[in-house]
Amino acid sequence: MPALPSAFSARLIAWQKNHGRHDLPWQCSRDPYRVWLSEVMLQQTQVATVIPYYRRFLERFPDVAALAAASPAAVAEAWAGLGYYSRGRNLHRCARQVVADHGGRFPASAAALEALPGIGRSTAAAIAAFAWGERAAILDGNVKRVLCRHFGVEGWPEAAAVKKTLWALAESLLPAADCGAYTQGLMDLGATLCTRRRPDCSACPLAATCIARQEGRQGELPAGRQRTAPVEKAASFLLLTDGRGVLVERRPPAGIWGGLLVPPEGEPEALLADLGLAGHPWQALAPVRHSFTHFRLLATPVLCRLASVPSAAARPGREWLPLERVGTAALPALFRRLLVGLGDVGEAL
Ligand code: ADE
Repeated sequence: MPALPSAFSARLIAWQKNHGRHDLPWQCSRDPYRVWLSEVMLQQTQVATVIPYYRRFLERFPDVAALAAASPAAVAEAWAGLGYYSRGRNLHRCARQVVADHGGRFPASAAALEALPGIGRSTAAAIAAFAWGERAAILDGNVKRVLCRHFGVEGWPEAAAVKKTLWALAESLLPAADCGAYTQGLMDLGATLCTRRRPDCSACPLAATCIARQEGRQGELPAGRQRTAPVEKAASFLLLTDGRGVLVERRPPAGIWGGLLVPPEGEPEALLADLGLAGHPWQALAPVRHSFTHFRLLATPVLCRLASVPSAAARPGREWLPLERVGTAALPALFRRLLVGLGDVGEAL
């Protein structure tokens, strides 16, 4: 028999108190700025990756006013490597909106938070539950998995009809009080026990009423989407270097890697001709695969070594980035990895 909603939340809250996570850096504060920052960083990124970014970000931008006052380039630099860069841009837009429209204080309800850039329904609920204990339901990927398994919800959780069912379930399960502990419990259960592969049902406080467990269907629920092969795009990137610096361009704000520094993309011969370096020798390096939300990129780095900095490096939108700044500049992780070894590769040629 399915658990009564109160029994579900009561078991989860008790489990969170004894077995949940209590020492994550954002858990020591109910400051809406800190809660918001952590929730946005955690939207598509794992806890272990987020922790150092979260700490550095707070050192650099200790409050919403500091973040709002920062330049887009400074925010892109602090965000670089976390991926999904529209999140970083929306974070900045959101901070500016909080300062401009709300006097520098986050509006204190999930409904009002949801009107801000980069804050969806689930993130708004998580912020409101953690910062003010609001009774608001979250539904992120982990929670969808927990609910699909526990209540035997069929179908792909991202399908509109299934999502509607899951939201209704999530709302109906909310406890009358202790919404912060309940929300953290749901997140912790999904992250630590009710994992995608090999869930640890023997330690789960909800196991007695879990349909997936009763029916041995933990591996089938939640159901996947009928998959089509991912679209793959290929592109070349010119790594033009004199062994001390490398040419990069600031990408336009919209699109992949928006606002970040990236080596010029295009056909090597055409790029070199455009730089006044037609016919200069170059060498294609091993291609690198990178997955984005809607496609996979096969990036071929093309190395071209020069004796000195070309004058075309001074054009607007371009920078000659010193190699010692590669570790901290606003580069996507893919290029940071490639460029870190550039001094050595250049020397070897
Ligand atoms: N994922 C999303 N929000 C989280 C939080 N507050 N703690 C741990 N993991 C999370």
